[in-house]
Amino acid sequence: MFLQGQHVLSVEQFDLSQIHALFETAKKLEAVAQGKVTTKLLNGAILANLFFEASTRTRMSFHSAFARLGGDICDTTGFSFSSISKGESLSDTARVISAYADVIVMRHPEQGAVADFAQYAEVPVINGGDGPGEHPTQALLDLYTISSEFEKLGKKIEGSVIAMTGDLKHGRTVHSLSKLLSLYDNLTFHFVSPDALAMPASIIEKIQAAGHQVKIFTSAEKGIQQADVIYCTRIQQERLSDDNSIDDLFSINKALLEPNAKSDAIIMHPLPRDTREGAFDLTTDFDDDSRLKIFTQAANGIPVRMALFVHCLGLENEVGKDFQPSLWAKTKR
Ligand code: NCD
Repeated sequence: MFLQGQHVLSVEQFDLSQIHALFETAKKLEAVAQGKVTTKLLNGAILANLFFEASTRTRMSFHSAFARLGGDICDTTGFSFSSISKGESLSDTARVISAYADVIVMRHPEQGAVADFAQYAEVPVINGGDGPGEHPTQALLDLYTISSEFEKLGKKIEGSVIAMTGDLKHGRTVHSLSKLLSLYDNLTFHFVSPDALAMPASIIEKIQAAGHQVKIFTSAEKGIQQADVIYCTRIQQERLSDDNSIDDLFSINKALLEPNAKSDAIIMHPLPRDTREGAFDLTTDFDDDSRLKIFTQAANGIPVRMALFVHCLGLENEVGKDFQPSLWAKTKR
């Protein structure tokens, strides 16, 4: 019951045994996540899904996870449709919504805003991304993906090489994931980015203090060699000032991956990837390769977020007791 009534604000609040407990619950919930089995575990509970920054996957997967558990969802998207645009403070919003919902998920463009909001909320608040700060639930689903894919490959996380590419300065997913992976032993991190988009020094220091090796690359070719995980990210244009022209941008494409990626590497991306002409991101010409796990990774968001809800509401020992085969799942193509 380590999460009952608690907020989920940062990966730094978890230890490995708690993460394993969450993943065990997520595994049990996979059939529910896929719609093969139904449950009424959260019957009558309400999620407030508050997204003040663009989102498709995170917002919808939190919604879908709560609905699959039998709960209801109320939501608001963007500041213009919220009373915050009328000058309401985050603290008032938190107090008001605590009376409407049993759990709150919030995404906000400012680092630290979700934690500020949570101070005034009377129900658990889950951070769905706070500006360039953290994205703890994405990191948990990324780690769930790495550990389940490594299990299939007979590999261990301990001792592995993790390459992260793209906008490591503004990308909150790589901030959270590198801190979370630091809980394991003896990792080597390859941080591959243009100088202007390098991983913040504060995060590198934390990783090194936990005993891991950090290698910095500005060339993608060298940076992805030897890697067991190649975690790509997009350039966060919305967090760059207009006059910020960046040199040495690169794409992660088939021509780069084929000769340089290990045969048992897994290629990940939190999505969305920028597939527009001239964008520097993971390209689509590698989509047929079985090492690409980006869609499995996105699908894993459902069981992992379900597990977080179940643990925040202290119901982990109830999972499975009312499972029923779903009548409609067989209509899926
Ligand atoms: C990311 C985010 O919003 O931080 N996406 C996500 O939640 N799956 C990555 C991004 O926006 O680049």
